[in-house]
Amino acid sequence: MTTLKAQIFLDTNRTIAPISPLLFGGFVEHMGRCVYQGIYDPQSPLADANGLRQDVLQALRDQAYTVIRYPGGNFLSGYNWLDGVGPKGERPLRRNLAWQSIETNQFGTNEFVDFCQAINAAPMLGVNMGTGTIQTAADLVEYCNIASGTYWSDLRASHGYRQPHNVRYWCVGNEMDGPWQIGHLDAVAYGNKALEAAKMMKWQDPTIQTVLCGSSGDKMPTYPDWDRIALEIAWEHVDYHSMHYYAGNRDNDTASYLANAVEFENFVETLEGTLRYVKARRRSNHDVYLSWDEWQVWYKGDPLQGNWTEAPHLAEEIYNLEDALVVAQWLNVFLRKSHVLKVACVAQIVNVISWLHTRPGGLLKQPSFYVFQLVSSLARGEALDLLVKAPPVATQAYGDVPTLDVSASYDAATQQGAIFLVNRSLAEAVTAEFIWQDGKTVTIDHAWQLTGDDPKASNSWETPNRLVAQPVAKPKVSDGRSTLTLPPLSFTVLQTSVQI
Ligand code: AHR
Repeated sequence: MTTLKAQIFLDTNRTIAPISPLLFGGFVEHMGRCVYQGIYDPQSPLADANGLRQDVLQALRDQAYTVIRYPGGNFLSGYNWLDGVGPKGERPLRRNLAWQSIETNQFGTNEFVDFCQAINAAPMLGVNMGTGTIQTAADLVEYCNIASGTYWSDLRASHGYRQPHNVRYWCVGNEMDGPWQIGHLDAVAYGNKALEAAKMMKWQDPTIQTVLCGSSGDKMPTYPDWDRIALEIAWEHVDYHSMHYYAGNRDNDTASYLANAVEFENFVETLEGTLRYVKARRRSNHDVYLSWDEWQVWYKGDPLQGNWTEAPHLAEEIYNLEDALVVAQWLNVFLRKSHVLKVACVAQIVNVISWLHTRPGGLLKQPSFYVFQLVSSLARGEALDLLVKAPPVATQAYGDVPTLDVSASYDAATQQGAIFLVNRSLAEAVTAEFIWQDGKTVTIDHAWQLTGDDPKASNSWETPNRLVAQPVAKPKVSDGRSTLTLPPLSFTVLQTSVQI
């Protein structure tokens, strides 16, 4: 094995932007076993008094989720939120048309808010822009956020929730650009409906923040016109614009797959340009930021239709090392784009396209679980604007890309920092030299690594700890310099502190 050389220049004064805590969010949909048998399983001996699985709650707390989006997804566009509130015995059994499953409605808005409290995350609710109306959207805001004395707020109180939920983040529909969406609209029709919905919702509660549906992905034929048109119409009444993207090694070309971050960055940059264009065209002082509220690896072809059963096994992806390295780069992109990207939600947080699986007696954590956990718990303060000099690696899809994909954070309040590094090379180690340029005394306090020889290796119920992020020897820093050899196919995290 040869060893390549790279240099990473850091300066705690050279920053990109504050890292929004909301970048470490998740997504819960009434799909497959995400809600039922995932977070909510009252029959399980592992459930608490609210029917929430305590082992799942603990794993989610360990991952430090800050915000959770709910209840869909495609499910949202056929959902009547009234089905999911009130006495459980009176809630209707419905056909979930999005996923051809049976929905019992035993878990709804109030249970979701309780769940968010249990994991210390903020709720982000979606309003139905498919079969729903601007009225049903505004009614849900009143139900959730108005204290008392009106029809919908008193209904909430009668359901046992006297205090308002004060839900701050609201998605105005889901993937309305997609022909697969119940009630799909074109950009003008959606822009007009979203504008009127967001207006009424903000009249109910002016403190809320709304998210406009952006394109369902950068491969959509209507991208990026959809984004421009919907934004031009709804601009003043929305605070975020959504992005969705599902990655996958569909051609079994690992070198290209490991450079997928190139596309992630392009996607953000195109939409950043679109936001600037629309702001200028509208002569507006208002700012809209990006909300990447569905992102994940998803391509392995598990069933997507539930044959009209309750909690079917849908899209229960098995993730391997290469998938984890793509997740790590995604999180690096979030930090590098922290000036415009303020919210992100991994889709989804348990069982469905998730790195966390349940079975009756326990949990399986897949390799990307550990990647997310490290970044969500260590990336604090501001993202650093790094200079990375790394040799190129050739890819079929993107040409030459740097062997290393890197991001870093520094929190002036705690004087702690972190560096997140992916070595994309399939075969070559890279000896990275770190050079702190700000003259401060730095130490590396902890180091972790997730790596392996086989990009296709994964954890299983039989071998659950094959791929886990392991503590590794922390490199010494002298005169503001340090070196560390990064194995091929690896994700490395360094936690640093600065002495003043
Ligand atoms: O997360 C699964 C599905 O992917 C969501 O329901 C939809 O929004 C997207 O297409």
